[in-house]
Amino acid sequence: MSTTEQFDAVDVIRTKRDHGRLSDGQIDWVIDAYTRGVVADEQMSALTMAILLNGMDRGEIARWTAAMIASGERLDFSGLSRPTADKHSTGGVGDKITLPLAPVVAACGVAVPQLSGRGLGHTGGTLDKLESIPGWRAALTNEEMLAQLEDVGAVICQAGSGLAPADRKLYALRDVTGTVEAIPLIASSIMSKKIAEGTGALVLDVKVGTGAFMKDVDQATELARTMVALGTDAGVRTVALLTDMSTPLGLTAGNALEVRESVEVLAGGGPADVVELTVALAREMLAASGAGNGVDPADALVDGRAMDVWRRMIRAQGGDPDAPLPVARETDVMLAPADGVVVRLDALAVGVAAWRLGAGRARKEDQVQAGAGIELHAKPGALVRAGEPLLTLHSDTPERFQRARQALADAVTIAPEGSRPPERPLVIDRIAAD
Ligand code: URA
Repeated sequence: MSTTEQFDAVDVIRTKRDHGRLSDGQIDWVIDAYTRGVVADEQMSALTMAILLNGMDRGEIARWTAAMIASGERLDFSGLSRPTADKHSTGGVGDKITLPLAPVVAACGVAVPQLSGRGLGHTGGTLDKLESIPGWRAALTNEEMLAQLEDVGAVICQAGSGLAPADRKLYALRDVTGTVEAIPLIASSIMSKKIAEGTGALVLDVKVGTGAFMKDVDQATELARTMVALGTDAGVRTVALLTDMSTPLGLTAGNALEVRESVEVLAGGGPADVVELTVALAREMLAASGAGNGVDPADALVDGRAMDVWRRMIRAQGGDPDAPLPVARETDVMLAPADGVVVRLDALAVGVAAWRLGAGRARKEDQVQAGAGIELHAKPGALVRAGEPLLTLHSDTPERFQRARQALADAVTIAPEGSRPPERPLVIDRIAAD
């Protein structure tokens, strides 16, 4: 240890290993020293594992979040002529909601600064989806982002490397040390980026189910409460919806396929669940930014205002909203094995299969295939006949079909006619500040 360092990493690790509480000074130091490279990866992995096993209290989580925010820059949208609201989803399969949501909310008078990421693993990334639009670019300078927010009202772009750099380093470490699934670490990771981004209001879409990080409602509720408290304490009006991720959202999973479906929603059509969740989240964003009175976001989908914002938003980032979207070179159709009612269509299996078809990446350097993915021809509740198409697999590389089919082998349950899938509301709960 350098003589000028205030703390010793081993003491900090021992404190948490022995179920102690980390002091504000220890937290500030360990985050800063890790970002500077003074605390080594192996020390930080021991500490994050101790946190995963022994937890952190609300005060520790708030301080940990503040220290990660302080590791980088903070954006400031206070000069804009309208309020700002952002949405964060904890990630799901077929979750394309950001694409129609940002234009809808902007069409209702609230600016949406949506800093997004790329997909890793079975959940898709918003930037990967938008990059299937010819010409569209994800990287904007802060000045370009502000100008677009003022002019168009919505921007979906890559988060700059200056925002919470401690989290960038820590997240990469957690990914390879089995320490992603700790609620204090997930909550502080997500909220440090959202608070540093400077949004006035934030709506969290916390997914629950097989295709989500959080497999049960109790865990998801705890994560949602922790994040709502962090946001509220930092002055961001924060609300969370717990939403179902036991089955994919909409009828597509895969980059260009999801853009196509989002455009259908913006044209006033599209699958009912995608429309329902878009409108529910838009209502929360408008209410949290004080712009909800007498405004129904559903109208902006039907009357074309949201579509106008979408087209301007895509053009402002170099994209051509009229260009044909990429289509995969090959398809493979899976047929219904029996007559009956689909009572289960598993989100995780569809996510893994879409990923194996080339829609996602295994390592962050990998390229995704824009046209790869899965189309669902029947969702839970639908009646099917043996031999009818159930799923269409899309890929440029047909040698991937077999592994995708393996992932889907047990994805669908068909029960005799007259059966019904379990009742599952799309919006399970709403969590606001105490
Ligand atoms: N998303 C994040 O940004 N961080 C996490 O820890 C988990 C999901």
